[in-house]
Amino acid sequence: MPDSSPPIYLDNAATSFPKPPEVGETMHRLIQEISLSPGRSAHRFSLAAGRVIFGARERIADFFGCPDSSRVVFTSNVTEALNVGIFGLLAPGDEVLTTGMEHNSVMRPLRYLEKTRGISLTILPTSPTGGIDPDDIPNHLNKKTRLIIINHVSNVTGAMADLAAIGKRKGGALLMVDAAQSAGVFPLDMEAFGIDFLAFTGHKGLFGPTGTGGFLLRQGLMLPPLTMGGTGSNSELEEQPQMMPDCFESGTPNTLGIGGLAAGLEFIKKTGRETIRLHEERLAGLLLEGLSRIPGVTVHGPPAGTDRGSAVSLTMGGKSVADLAFLLDRHYGIMARAGLHCAPAAHRSISTFPQGTLRLSPGFFNTEAEIQAVLAALDRINSEA
Ligand code: ALA
Repeated sequence: MPDSSPPIYLDNAATSFPKPPEVGETMHRLIQEISLSPGRSAHRFSLAAGRVIFGARERIADFFGCPDSSRVVFTSNVTEALNVGIFGLLAPGDEVLTTGMEHNSVMRPLRYLEKTRGISLTILPTSPTGGIDPDDIPNHLNKKTRLIIINHVSNVTGAMADLAAIGKRKGGALLMVDAAQSAGVFPLDMEAFGIDFLAFTGHKGLFGPTGTGGFLLRQGLMLPPLTMGGTGSNSELEEQPQMMPDCFESGTPNTLGIGGLAAGLEFIKKTGRETIRLHEERLAGLLLEGLSRIPGVTVHGPPAGTDRGSAVSLTMGGKSVADLAFLLDRHYGIMARAGLHCAPAAHRSISTFPQGTLRLSPGFFNTEAEIQAVLAALDRINSEA
């Protein structure tokens, strides 16, 4: 029988929900008040839209320790950002060092370039919980290694890479970081960590709407764009302008979404990133501790009390993880994601391929009572045949 209790959303690793009220309020106000087409005209609406984009760019640069906001490029999501970097930075003969925990947003373009551009890949081995050893990195570098691509926090296990240590061991290679799961929650400082290309999404920990994301490019590094077209600048040229960030931002931008993203960043500033991190850490800790008391449950990821994200992956004996997610949703109003989480490589690394796991991913707006309700539901499902 469907449960009548209020729904519990535990799929924040996919998209954070709910959003802070000011995100929707800002977007509502913007769509009613201005025409949202920046940099194309000199009228007041276009200038106002330009200020929305500029303000968001400044906030992002500040948030990620980037001294120059023109090095912030907006894209429609982190996948697009990673594709720009991977396609733009790699040439035939280049080698890439990456990890066994990468999402398909990294693996698919890399596998494509392996076939079509003659790049080669080295995959760093991971621990059974998805961790990588930074000291292992120098052993796999050589003079052809152009790029090291690291998933900061795994969307599957929550395992976190030590970026500060990795940045010190990158040798002559460029460091690209996929911050899809960590941006907004964990410290991320481009300069301090030696990051050359930082890809982020707007709709998870930054509390923005879907359709937002981007990358930050280290000063002095340049690459060709993936798309070309109108930028509102150098319109006399039939060639793509080289200036940042216009070079990468062709076509009318998602001013509405970027305005919402700026409101998300403002919420983080007001709340405190560390407050958010501590709350998520507490919820993940409760979840992990409760799961350890349910017989038959195996957690696939780092234990509580270690540096980890809040995503918790589990299997329950031989039960189908798809059935578990269905039962949680249908009978308990609990929303979670089961399967491979678009990261088959990560599931291979932790030996949960091909069935995958049930993933519970608490966010800032979840409560301890909700975690207890999930644990009670899983306990009940486990005790049923
Ligand atoms: N990559 C996102 C997830 O893990 C969508 O659910």
